[in-house]
Amino acid sequence: MFIAAILSLALANAAGASGVKYHFDPLHHLAGIAPTFEDPQLDPAAPQGCNVTRATYLVRHAAIYANDFDYEEYIEPFTDKLSNTTARWRGAGPLDFLSTWQSPISDEELEDLTTVGRLESYKLGVNVHLRYPTFKAPKKVWTSTAERTELSAKAFIEGLVTQTNETQRVSVSEDESEGADSLTPYEGCPKYSSSYGSEQSSKFRDVYTKPIIERFNQLQPGFHFTAKDIVGMQQLCGYETVIRGSSPFCSLELFLPDEWLGFEYMNDIMYFYNTGYGNEISGTIGFPWLNASASLLLADEADQELYVSFTHRELPPTVAVAMGIFNNSAFTGANHINETMPLNKPNHGRVWKSSNILPFLSNFAIEKMECESYGFDSGDYFRVLVNSSPQPLECADGPGESCSENAFEQFIQARGEEFSGFTEKCQPDYNNSTDLLTIYNM
Ligand SMILES: *[C@@H]1O[C@H](CO)[C@@H](O)[C@H](O)[C@H]1NC(C)=O
Ligand SMILES: *[C@@H]1O[C@H](CO)[C@@H](O)[C@H](O)[C@H]1NC(C)=O
Ligand SMILES: *[C@@H]1O[C@H](CO)[C@@H](O)[C@H](O)[C@H]1NC(C)=O
Ligand SMILES: *[C@@H]1O[C@H](CO)[C@@H](O)[C@H](O)[C@H]1NC(C)=O
Ligand SMILES: *[C@@H]1O[C@H](CO)[C@@H](O)[C@H](O)[C@H]1NC(C)=O
Ligand SMILES: *[C@@H]1O[C@H](CO)[C@@H](O)[C@H](O)[C@H]1NC(C)=O
Ligand SMILES: *[C@@H]1O[C@H](CO)[C@@H](O)[C@H](O)[C@H]1NC(C)=O
Ligand SMILES: *[C@@H]1O[C@H](CO)[C@@H](O)[C@H](O)[C@H]1NC(C)=O
Repeated sequence: MFIAAILSLALANAAGASGVKYHFDPLHHLAGIAPTFEDPQLDPAAPQGCNVTRATYLVRHAAIYANDFDYEEYIEPFTDKLSNTTARWRGAGPLDFLSTWQSPISDEELEDLTTVGRLESYKLGVNVHLRYPTFKAPKKVWTSTAERTELSAKAFIEGLVTQTNETQRVSVSEDESEGADSLTPYEGCPKYSSSYGSEQSSKFRDVYTKPIIERFNQLQPGFHFTAKDIVGMQQLCGYETVIRGSSPFCSLELFLPDEWLGFEYMNDIMYFYNTGYGNEISGTIGFPWLNASASLLLADEADQELYVSFTHRELPPTVAVAMGIFNNSAFTGANHINETMPLNKPNHGRVWKSSNILPFLSNFAIEKMECESYGFDSGDYFRVLVNSSPQPLECADGPGESCSENAFEQFIQARGEEFSGFTEKCQPDYNNSTDLLTIYNM
């Protein structure tokens, strides 16, 4: 009796009853809708003998109710269909909750910051303060002008400093006429299109949703689930979590771990061809921020110790390309870009994972450090961290996979040779477009 009880408990706990311990959190696989999270692979602490003396940050805004496109394309069609259906959900297994579930999203709030988003921004401010306890409060924090970026910057400043009136929030126009001189340079680049990647990702959408559709249609034949319904439901896991704190759509009984990985891979394909290595213009869009940051960090003197800028999801991945990080082809000795992201099955070994690159509040940091470290020359070193996870650049030759000053300077110059010429490559309609990001010099 007792043994049988223990046994059935053990079986219930082991997913698939294989006896192997397997932990899976769907919230870490939701790409652009992933709630803020950190999962550093390398040690985020400054390497032994090093002190951070200056840093620049690029931050995506925090959690919003829903992105217009996700809402109109996937979520609203699903919730409309749901409110119309005569299908009964009671007894439909893991779909049972749909009999009482109400959507947390309404048209009016769509792109607004959620309360969870505001809290996460504030916490990031606190965490940055704790990371650099000796830094003076910055005179300025920059943000693009959308309400969700402005409010993220505001909450961040409140968490970072004690006298918020002494840190100015500088609004940077999102207009396309700014060329490269904004925190939204893709707006000023006609060679970029927000629809890039949809065609490729929809191929894989049909692959990974097929078994889910069949399972759901067996549970409730009256609803006629489609691939877009499935995507909308998986998106709701993320959005509902950042609105209400949790969501029944995140249940692992509803979608199995591999099915969340399928959702993630579909998004990774989209971002890969939209703002990643699969789009030729990506590095050109990301380079101005990289170069402006490098100039601030390499200068002998600077107005601030900390430079933080808030933007949208498009910019961080282009900066990743400009930096050469999350490159699926790295260490392969070849550069077969498209082959690294097949459209018919996931490449589980890829490093291009949008959940790590552009979750809500995603932040890219470049730190300047003063080091007296065993085995290295003393001097200044530079290191990149994405969501606190150190990312070795090609120039890494210093402690903690940082780059020495010389190597970093040469690296930036080499990236510039590959990715400079924003105006020439983007061919904007404006005759006053610029190649440089100058907002920090004013
Ligand atoms: C819901 O039902 C109404 C009335 O039958 C219909 O006009 C509308 O197109 C339906 N909407 C959806 C999303 O199925
Ligand atoms: C900010 O507010 C504090 C307290 O109200 C005040 O002492 C200080 O002078 C203000 N600073 C600026 C730059 O306005
Ligand atoms: C280009 O001109 C427009 C219109 O006068 C102006 O708003 C914009 O700031 C200018 N762009 C740059 C990069 O100076
Ligand atoms: C990605 O890695 C490949 C292989 O090392 C390299 O040829 C290519 O230039 C890299 N791409 C970028 C944008 O850095
Ligand atoms: C890679 O895919 C893109 C987008 O589909 C396409 O434009 C490009 O030609 C492909 N590159 C190669 C080398 O096949
Ligand atoms: C780092 O900071 C500590 C504490 O302020 C100081 O003792 C040490 O000398 C500094 N090291 C370097 C390399 O600047
Ligand atoms: C990088 O920025 C510096 C300082 O603004 C500028 O002089 C240089 O031309 C920029 N490099 C490229 C390749 O755009
Ligand atoms: C840019 O275009 C405007 C309007 O066509 C024109 O008035 C202006 O002189 C042009 N500026 C330059 C620098 O060519």
